[in-house]
Amino acid sequence: MTEPGDKGAGRVFVKTYGCQMNERDSEAIAALLVRAGYTLAADEAGADIVIVNTCSVREKAEDKAIGKLRLISSARNRRGRIVGAVGCMVQRLGGAATARVKGLDFAVGPHRLHTLPAVIEAVRAGRGPIIDAGDPEEDREPLTDHLPGGPTAFVNILLGCDRYCTYCIVPHVRGREWSRPGASVLREVEALAGQGVREVTLLGQSVMSYGRTNAVWPADAVSPRGFTEPLPRLLEAVAAVPGLRRIRFTSGHPVGCSAELGRAMAEVPGVCDHLHLPVQSGSDRVLKRMHRGYTAADYLAAVARLRAAVPTLALTSDIIVGFPGETQEDFEQTQALMEAAQFDNVYIFKYSPREGTPAARWADDVPDDEKMRRNHVLLRDQDRLGLALNQALVGTTVAVLAEGPSLRNTARWAGRTTTNKIVIFEPRPGLRAGDIVSVQIDRAAAQTLYGPLADGHVA
Ligand code: SAH
Ligand code: SF4
Ligand code: F3S
Repeated sequence: MTEPGDKGAGRVFVKTYGCQMNERDSEAIAALLVRAGYTLAADEAGADIVIVNTCSVREKAEDKAIGKLRLISSARNRRGRIVGAVGCMVQRLGGAATARVKGLDFAVGPHRLHTLPAVIEAVRAGRGPIIDAGDPEEDREPLTDHLPGGPTAFVNILLGCDRYCTYCIVPHVRGREWSRPGASVLREVEALAGQGVREVTLLGQSVMSYGRTNAVWPADAVSPRGFTEPLPRLLEAVAAVPGLRRIRFTSGHPVGCSAELGRAMAEVPGVCDHLHLPVQSGSDRVLKRMHRGYTAADYLAAVARLRAAVPTLALTSDIIVGFPGETQEDFEQTQALMEAAQFDNVYIFKYSPREGTPAARWADDVPDDEKMRRNHVLLRDQDRLGLALNQALVGTTVAVLAEGPSLRNTARWAGRTTTNKIVIFEPRPGLRAGDIVSVQIDRAAAQTLYGPLADGHVA
């Protein structure tokens, strides 16, 4: 409960599971509640209101969120706190979410987050529990509130997903694809740059579909560089926002890797040399059953197209092991694709059937220990491939956008290269988050680069 002398409406803690879109939503919720008079707690122990932002993408992700919610809403741990769930699991389960967690005060879906201040007030007034999963086709404009402070920010540009990969729950919980008008994205980025943000990441589940299902620019608007596709035009417009130094966008899809996008990545100042381009499998048979819309050769051709435009491009990817019917031979084709694509980093997931998706009707016939084995093999492969790419950077000097003290050792700072590599370095006095510094790389691990600052150069 609110401490005596605490003038705020209460202290909030938001715990986040899931993707960058959920991270972005959590930040927006926190900022919205701060605007409504709440303060932010450093951890759940110090909070009067705990909100868990849930993910449904794999069963394990849901189990984690449910476990967390049960723990904090149990009578022993509750101590008068308000406990609520938001996010994709609420959209998926609706009222059933409260049945799975006893004592939940509210459950609000991803398109109803703007109602949270009123929901919390209503719970306080004894009108809980409140369940509002909402309709993903309504309330489409996302929240634009941000917390002040950091040098980097996420900005939603495309909501929902129309790709319907056969294993994926996201289109079912996030609704149809809808693109924010360019002007609305620009207003948000301008406000961010005005409060000191130096790097934005434009978010969409399949971000290259930006502008595909609805118009995002006025018919008479012209692109200075003559771009005709909506995403290159947005990159160009965002790059013109004063104060902004870097632009990223994610996640990519090979179908969207057009020559024009390659040109935009090469020519538009500030667009980073990195793309997260999930491949999921290297087997055409599996890709087809996943409904991904490309073959392994198409994928590699898309990569080659982008690398022809941006030779220093870093690539990261997602892979699913143990998809229904995946044989040892399919798996080896994935290994071969990883070798051919030379990913800088890869996230590997064990296939998890999601109710309501087509793949969930097929036998989940790769045993769990075999999924585990394939997972380990790919992790080992990637460690070798990623380490070799990073070791090639030893002896070079890279530009790093300083983000702040490293979590592991606060005497050192962490930042990122334009290729999205984490770099750990010793700061010099007066260094500010958001500065771009040159670091001379003298050591490389599979995930991280290290080195001293190069002579006095701060951009
Ligand atoms: N929109 C993004 C992916 C979002 S989900 C994209 O397509 O680029 C993040 C990753 O989770 C996916 O790329 C996929 O590798 C994995 N994933 C999705 N559904 C899954 C499932 N049912 N089982 C295991 N992994 C899954
Ligand atoms: Fe899911 Fe496929 Fe859409 Fe990505 S592109 S969110 S994997 S349906
Ligand atoms: Fe999970 Fe929802 Fe993102 S299901 S991956 S949090 S869109």
